[in-house]
Amino acid sequence: MLKNIVSNHPTGYSQIPDDLIFEMEENYGAHHYERHRVVIRQARGCWLTDIRGKRYLDCLAAYSAANCGHHHPRIVEALQKALAGNYASVISNVVYTDPLGLFLNKVAELTPQLGPRFGKNGNKVLPKNGGVESVETAIKAARYYGWKVKGIADGKQEIIVFDNNFHGRMITVVSFATTEKYRQGFGPLTPGFVSVPFGDLDAVQKAVNPNTCAILAEPFQGEGGMNVPPAGFLEGLRQIADRHDLLLLFDEIQVGLGRTGRRFCFQHENVIPDGLILGKAISGGLVPLSVFVTNAELMDLVFSVGSDGSTYGGYPLACVAGIAALDVLVEEKLAERASHQGRRLMKRLEKIASRSPHVAEVRGRGLFIGIQIKGGRAMDFCRRLLDLGVLANDSHGHTIRISPPLVIDDVELDFMTERLEKVLIDK
Ligand SMILES: Cc1ncc(COP(=O)(O)O)c(C=O)c1O
Repeated sequence: MLKNIVSNHPTGYSQIPDDLIFEMEENYGAHHYERHRVVIRQARGCWLTDIRGKRYLDCLAAYSAANCGHHHPRIVEALQKALAGNYASVISNVVYTDPLGLFLNKVAELTPQLGPRFGKNGNKVLPKNGGVESVETAIKAARYYGWKVKGIADGKQEIIVFDNNFHGRMITVVSFATTEKYRQGFGPLTPGFVSVPFGDLDAVQKAVNPNTCAILAEPFQGEGGMNVPPAGFLEGLRQIADRHDLLLLFDEIQVGLGRTGRRFCFQHENVIPDGLILGKAISGGLVPLSVFVTNAELMDLVFSVGSDGSTYGGYPLACVAGIAALDVLVEEKLAERASHQGRRLMKRLEKIASRSPHVAEVRGRGLFIGIQIKGGRAMDFCRRLLDLGVLANDSHGHTIRISPPLVIDDVELDFMTERLEKVLIDK
């Protein structure tokens, strides 16, 4: 059926009509996403284009995966070179490849010394594919540390997590989700997690017991409703972790790599975690790649031959993208740009909010901003925005999430705020 309609047309991969795409997804795909009814044919910088040539300003950036903007020329060129030069393909982890070594080096040195209480040994990096895999790697590291170093009986290790957390969709991670829909019917669930309210240090302290080995937190909850932690929360977690010899693990898959106006979100407070999880933007939005980073001493303690692995984890094509994406992050000063544009955007949104009958609150950091809607129904506003050429999505039902590529310029920012103003004030 597809033979005659797939073509290399300049406006995109194919000229298959939208209705046929909807039908194919309906008939052959799992229905696990609520989608806007639009088919994107091309993506470049901050813009997405449909078959009619209508353009949408991307204010979601694939939940931060497209921080560098879509098809950043430098990342595309690196990938094209790797494909043309025959050094892109997965080989296998029984031999060495140069992109992996270069990528590990770059990530380790870009990250401040993690877990400095374990010594200034540098960082080491374990690569995977989707973000959830690196979250599980971090959980393995914490449990092993609890058993090997703290003497907790294997199988009894506990990790403190937070209500409304989001760390992905695999069984162990949904086991401690507090959103019912994520876990219902998927039992038996993985034990060993205690969830407490985000921002509540007393609750964290009370949850610590002799079997506790770690605290796992998002330093700013994205999926959970765009929740900025109260000032001092991250430092408080550090103090509790130090007091009880717990590993402090931050999941910065969505908020790391410049998104909140700092290279890492934890840098908003004077705190350094023991382990860090990165994904999404780390490969420039073109191939899946994620990492668990920790103090070299800890990495060597926890992982030895046979205790972990991944066929595609750290394969050459992903690493080539990763190296280029991290170069873009640093050389194009994406964190500074997010901070600058984020401040401008926040000011305008606060003005809009003060005149809007619909906005309950605007909150955020850098280019990671939530607009909470009175009475919930943020998706209604996202649909209106889409009609006006802005792609945004809701977080936790009640909040519009604004997280455009960090390369967004002044004209694009104006385009966005004009439409937000229309939707939030005139609707
Ligand atoms: C904070 C956080 N952790 C983990 C994940 C899971 O990443 P992935 O979907 O790549 O498995 C996400 C995805 O949105 C996330 O936002």
